[in-house]
Amino acid sequence: MNNASPFLETETASRVTVTFAGAPLDLPLGANLAAALLTAGVGAFRQTPVSGAPRGPFCMMGACFDCLVEIDGVARQACMTEVTAGLQIDRPHEGDHDAG
Ligand code: FES
Repeated sequence: MNNASPFLETETASRVTVTFAGAPLDLPLGANLAAALLTAGVGAFRQTPVSGAPRGPFCMMGACFDCLVEIDGVARQACMTEVTAGLQIDRPHEGDHDAG
């Protein structure tokens, strides 16, 4: 088990391109996705469905779900995901609009 800080690996790894909310980002390959996004300046990973309040990673260990993002259309916890090339990351339900 790797007990090192997920933020340490963001400084040394080679970079790959992903998209977040449609914008390209160069993130460290194999890094913890939540740490990499925070390091890249992304603070709000999702918004609450009722008030729209922004949410970002809190626990960094898979317990709080505040880091929830959609990766290639599937909801996943960013803190439990490694950065790989070409990830298409969106805020959950972003772009979903109730027509009724
Ligand atoms: S930061 Fe809490 S589940 Fe990912």
